[in-house]
Order: sequence, then C-alpha cells, then structure tokens
Amino acid sequence: LARGVTEPDLAGRHVVVSAGGTREPLDPVRFLGNRSSGKQGYALARTAAARGARVTLIAANTALPDPAGVDVVRVGTAVELREAVLRAAAGADAVVMAAAVADFRPAVYAAGKIKKKDDQDPEPIALVRNPDILAEVAAGRARPGQVVVGFAAETDDVLANGRAKLKRKGCDLLVVNEVGERKTFGAEENEAVVLGADGSETPVPHGPKEALAETVWDLVADRFR
Ligand code: CTP
Ligand code: CA
Repeated sequence: LARGVTEPDLAGRHVVVSAGGTREPLDPVRFLGNRSSGKQGYALARTAAARGARVTLIAANTALPDPAGVDVVRVGTAVELREAVLRAAAGADAVVMAAAVADFRPAVYAAGKIKKKDDQDPEPIALVRNPDILAEVAAGRARPGQVVVGFAAETDDVLANGRAKLKRKGCDLLVVNEVGERKTFGAEENEAVVLGADGSETPVPHGPKEALAETVWDLVADRFR
C-alpha cells in the first residue's frame, strides 16, 4: 500500500467508542458535568472507520459533527450511556471507553427549577454513585476475545495509578493521560502511555489525538490476531 493510504486492517470488525462527558441533572436547567470535549473519542471513531471497521459512537453531550460513516447514538447521563454501551457492546469486537463518566449523580432530581430562599443558605447536594460501565463491560465480555479499552485521567502518580486502575477495571488496555487545567481537556493534542494487561507499556509522544487513536487501534488489532 502507498504511504498515506490507510490499510483496512479493521475490516469486518465492529467497534464501539464512547466519547464526551456525561451530565447529571439537578433540575430541568442545571447539571453536574465535566470538561471533556469528546475530541479523543471522535478521533478514535474516525480512525477506526478509516481502517474499515463498522463503528458505533456513543456520544455524551458533545458539540462535534457526526463523523462520516459512523453510527452515532447521543446520550446525556451516565445511566443512559451505560444502556447504550451495553446494547452496542453485545455484538462488538472491541469497546473503547473514552467518555468521561460522572462518578456520582445527584441523589434527587428536582422536577421544578430549584429556587433560592431569602436569608437561607442552600441545601447541600447529596450524591450517589453511578455504575462503573467499563468494569461492567470488562467483567461481562459479550463475546470471547472482545477487546476492552479504558482511559484514565490522572493528575498524580500517573503510571502507578494507571496500573492499579487497569487491574481494578479488568480491561485489556488502559490509556493513561496526565491532566491538569491546561492539559488535555478541549485540546487538539494529547500525550499518553497505553498500559496493557500483559504488562506492556506503549508511550505515545505529544501529538494529535488522531495519532493516539491510531496507536490504540494498532494495539487492539494486535489483540484480534
Ligand atoms: N468509567 C466508566 N464508568 C464510570 C466511571 C468511569 O465506564 N462510572 C470509565 C471511563 O470511561 C474510563 C475509565 O473508566 O475509560 C477510567 O475512568 P476514571 O474516572 O479515570 O476511573 P475511576 O474508576 O472513576 O477512578 P477515579 O476515582 O480516579 O475517578
Ligand atoms: Ca472517575
């Protein structure tokens, strides 16, 4: 194949990618959210499609155009994301969880807008845990050999935390990013280390999110063989 021409090494494969960040509503006008733009997940979806895969992209609150040739399912909350991912994962060869999933959601949803009261401090917001979608997908692999990939955003002890998280989640690959105020969120570029359950460690130098996406699919394709 000529340089610059993508080899269709994912042809005949169905992959599921989640992207964006969940929003957990407090009332009809307010939510708890996060800074995920969805760009890394969209880059994963685009590159997988270019390599011949059938792609289902589960997009949580992204403001990005649908990538060509990709099935897009839009969701809002972590609970909705879980349902969409589990449904799509049932027949998939790989599941990549690039979405930033809220760990907690408000314990109660106020059907009407929450109003402030004169001379009164606000009520604290009680939170409950959201389901861990990645751990659930990894524990209940829909088909033997299904490759499950997670992402981890860490601010400290990046590699040690990443190794522990890979084990805890039970996934095959974990893409570990160092995040901070000016790092990763909304940026066009990324830098990461991809940890494998087999002990492998693949550094991905600072570069476009597309390049990290290609490395992820290289590692996934290795595991299909
Ligand atoms: N994830 C998930 N469901 C959740 C939380 C996270 O599927 N409820 C997935 C994310 O999509 C990501 C991976 O798990 O692929 C790691 O997310 P991260 O927030 O780094 O991990 P947590 O286990 O939530 O740990 P932490 O306490 O560090 O946030
Ligand atoms: Ca988390």
